[in-house]
Amino acid sequence: MPTPEGAPLELVRPLVQQACGSAGGLCVLTGAGMSAESGIPTFRDALTGHWARFDPMQLASEEGFRADPARVWNWYAERRNGVRRAEPNAGHRALGDFAARHPGVLTVITQNVDDLHQRAGNLDTLRLHGDILQDRWLEPCPRGARGPACEPGWALEGEPPRCGECGNPLRPGVVWFGESLPLAAMNAAERAVDGCRLLLVVGTSGAVWPAAGLAHRARRHGAQVVIINPEASEIDDQAQYLLRGTAAQVLPALLDTTSPENG
Ligand code: APR
Repeated sequence: MPTPEGAPLELVRPLVQQACGSAGGLCVLTGAGMSAESGIPTFRDALTGHWARFDPMQLASEEGFRADPARVWNWYAERRNGVRRAEPNAGHRALGDFAARHPGVLTVITQNVDDLHQRAGNLDTLRLHGDILQDRWLEPCPRGARGPACEPGWALEGEPPRCGECGNPLRPGVVWFGESLPLAAMNAAERAVDGCRLLLVVGTSGAVWPAAGLAHRARRHGAQVVIINPEASEIDDQAQYLLRGTAAQVLPALLDTTSPENG
């Protein structure tokens, strides 16, 4: 059982070096804490988290959107602006640099709907909860049955924008509570954790499944699991090591020393 106060980095660095020795050797699963130091609020942090201030069912569910589309649309519009203003932090950059130094070793899997991993160089990041910068129609486009569907970009201005032909509203391209995850991304994430030697779990409370289950799955497949989080999470019992620190502090210290030669 890992020590709750955390392990020294020296115990985990060799695991990273070993993981460098094989294709797909290292997987990283990230949550909102990964982007906290970029100024993007998390969900469940006591005072600052979204869910400390808003009812998730009113803002992050289809029912909530249908009940008050303008309110939900404007909340996501505010969050989008926050994402556009944000910059990748030292943690994102350490993962981007690592991928450049060790091609084919790292798989990044994220619950985050921002694009900071991609902006830091991890273009093939697996997105489990969608993309806040993408819109899609709430209902399937009726034209789609007969031919090409209407493009979201054709929507008429509004809160939310709507199709000028059928009134179909746009909604954010994120996964809401009660919705299924994108199958291709989830299948690829499962394959990645099944084949990795080390899974780093960074900045997630582990409160939301099936994403949280990837730690259990990695462990079942013989991988070492290390959690990076300043606080306790709901999946700490799945980890061999807990690193009590932030993403921007710990990831550079853990990854920047690895070199292709020693892989
Ligand atoms: N570095 C690392 N971890 C951090 C940092 C930081 N700088 N700041 C906060 N944390 C940790 C918190 O201690 C907490 O455990 O990040 C975690 C954030 O947890 P949540 O807010 O629950 O976010 P997440 O786990 O990503 O939520 C999962 O829930 O609301 C849905 O779809 C949403 O993807 C989200 C999912």
